[in-house]
Amino acid sequence: MNIHIIGGGNLGTAISVGLAQYTTGNTITVTRRNVALIGHLSQYGIRTSASNIEGITGADMIILAIKPWQAEAVLQEILPHISGKIIASAASGVTLDQLHGIVADSNTVVRIMPNIAAQYGASATCISALAQDIAKVQPVVDLFDKVGTALIIDEKLMDAATVLGACGTAFALRYIRASMQAGIEIGFDAKTALAISAQTALGATEMLLKESAHPEQLIDKVTTPQGCTIAGLNEMEHEGFSSSLIKGIKTSLKQIKG
Ligand SMILES: NC(=O)c1ccc[n+]([C@@H]2O[C@H](COP(=O)([O-])OP(=O)(O)OC[C@H]3O[C@@H](n4cnc5c(N)ncnc54)[C@H](OP(=O)(O)O)[C@@H]3O)[C@@H](O)[C@H]2O)c1
Repeated sequence: MNIHIIGGGNLGTAISVGLAQYTTGNTITVTRRNVALIGHLSQYGIRTSASNIEGITGADMIILAIKPWQAEAVLQEILPHISGKIIASAASGVTLDQLHGIVADSNTVVRIMPNIAAQYGASATCISALAQDIAKVQPVVDLFDKVGTALIIDEKLMDAATVLGACGTAFALRYIRASMQAGIEIGFDAKTALAISAQTALGATEMLLKESAHPEQLIDKVTTPQGCTIAGLNEMEHEGFSSSLIKGIKTSLKQIKG
């Protein structure tokens, strides 16, 4: 496919590098006004441009990785050149109805909520489309499956997907940071503490996904009666570990909904 990514910021560049690394046979172009800042993408065979329109007529899919308030102006700018193309918008909060209100009937419009781990083939990407378009979204699902896991969800859960899948990257990193800080306090230098904390989180995730298990089933395998793991876990819960995460996720959702 010929993929045209508009908005070469954090997300747009992560998706482009992920697609360049984990797919073959695709042509990828990334645009942003300050194009000098994405010159490094050429090392992955990615084209860059300051023009949103240059080459867009040859594109099969257009990915919008711009801020929500930039979406309408950018769509109006490219509108004369995108007849019949798939538009996949990552602009948070811009609804399918709003997008359909701008583009032509011939366009397939999809909302996507990836995260920046797409760069390493590890994004959790939620995808939604109107019922009339759902049969046409497979190319988007197939593409984002290559840079992680792609799931079709109801649009009404898109804000929740933003919190769990995109903000969730920061939440997971904060867990690793806290573990690292504790590691330093119990004797490791920072580098070693980070290596152990990050790899342990990765290992736990790998087990969970490979075994399709519930987290508590795997926790049972590492907790010995009267042992140190269950003592530490229960102390964390007394201090509000799960509760603070749940409250934080609900607060993020409230913030998105305004
Ligand atoms: N970051 C994440 O983890 C994440 C995850 C999921 C969804 N999202 C959503 O994805 C969107 C982008 O987020 P981001 O974090 O990547 O933002 P960002 O880093 O600010 O990137 C936005 C990019 O758009 C470019 N841009 C602005 N106006 C443009 C125009 N008219 N034509 C072409 N490019 C233009 C900007 O570069 P110039 O100023 O040089 O043009 C900038 O690099 C947002 O809607 C966000 O909510 C982000």
